[in-house]
Amino acid sequence: MKLRAILISSSAVVLSSCGNLQSMLAPGGPAADNLAHLGWFVFVLFLVIAVIMWGLIAWVSLRRRGSFQHHQPVDAGGGQNWILIGGFAIPFVILAVVFVSGLKGMSVFPLHGHAGTPPDIRVTGHQWWWQIEYVKGPAHERFITASEIHIPVGQPVDIDLTSIDVIHSFFVPRLHGKVDLIPGQMNRIRIQASTAGVYRGQCAEYCGAQHAHMILYVVADPPEAYQRWRTTQMQEAPEPASDQEKRGQALFLERPCATCHTVRGTMAGGRVGPDLTHFGSRLGLASNAYWNNDANLSAWVTHAQALKPDVVMPNITQFRGNELHDIVAYLRQLR
Ligand code: CUA
Repeated sequence: MKLRAILISSSAVVLSSCGNLQSMLAPGGPAADNLAHLGWFVFVLFLVIAVIMWGLIAWVSLRRRGSFQHHQPVDAGGGQNWILIGGFAIPFVILAVVFVSGLKGMSVFPLHGHAGTPPDIRVTGHQWWWQIEYVKGPAHERFITASEIHIPVGQPVDIDLTSIDVIHSFFVPRLHGKVDLIPGQMNRIRIQASTAGVYRGQCAEYCGAQHAHMILYVVADPPEAYQRWRTTQMQEAPEPASDQEKRGQALFLERPCATCHTVRGTMAGGRVGPDLTHFGSRLGLASNAYWNNDANLSAWVTHAQALKPDVVMPNITQFRGNELHDIVAYLRQLR
């Protein structure tokens, strides 16, 4: 009894967390609604067919019990017509219905469609993080961020997908199906969220050691909040205010950090790792493998290779005194 209670409660925890965070069965937008409806329709249809088939098998096996010596040839009394009806006509009709429902879903919200118009966002897959470029509008409205996409609620957003190294796959189950990020190729996905909230996504194509830690958040904001976010992201990094943050900035610029990371408005212009201009505003770090807080950031700077082995980010250990605290304070105020 105890084991059963544990199993039920743990599966309830798993299911409820999936429902809130990352489940195709909890659609959060029109495209995912379509897919969920189609999934349930096919599931129920095939359940009904399976029950009918089990009934027929039971009926046949009971009906002829003990009478095998009196069997008729299969073609007696139109027996072969039943092969045509049951083996061809009925499956044809059922599969045609499923096929047409699938096509209908695809035309409402195509998975690869709407190419040819300029995208709102370009996403480039890296081992193991997502580069996010807002490419719509004039040059001063464009900006780069990482592993967290903001979209306005209720509006379709077109995203172009490509990769710089290996094949990755863009999959935010509550918003749409998956589309691959392929080096040298541009794919397109259109997402839309019906309600404000955070939608968790995950790289869905094995891409190396840290594939499982290649997480993406799509944050659907109400229109005013989205505009505020955009306006902030377009700007250069805020100037450090306190002495500690200023010391942190100096350290950031003279240590290896600036070789790989960009902070717009400073000398740091590295392109290897994520753009950190507004790093402090993001939910997670290391492609959302960890929440963005002081403790995790300290650990990440000094022990990246332990938290996410094989990642490009090296362990940065040559800090003295309060230097680590200074650099963390600087990075965290980049909002
Ligand atoms: Cu990127 Cu798996």
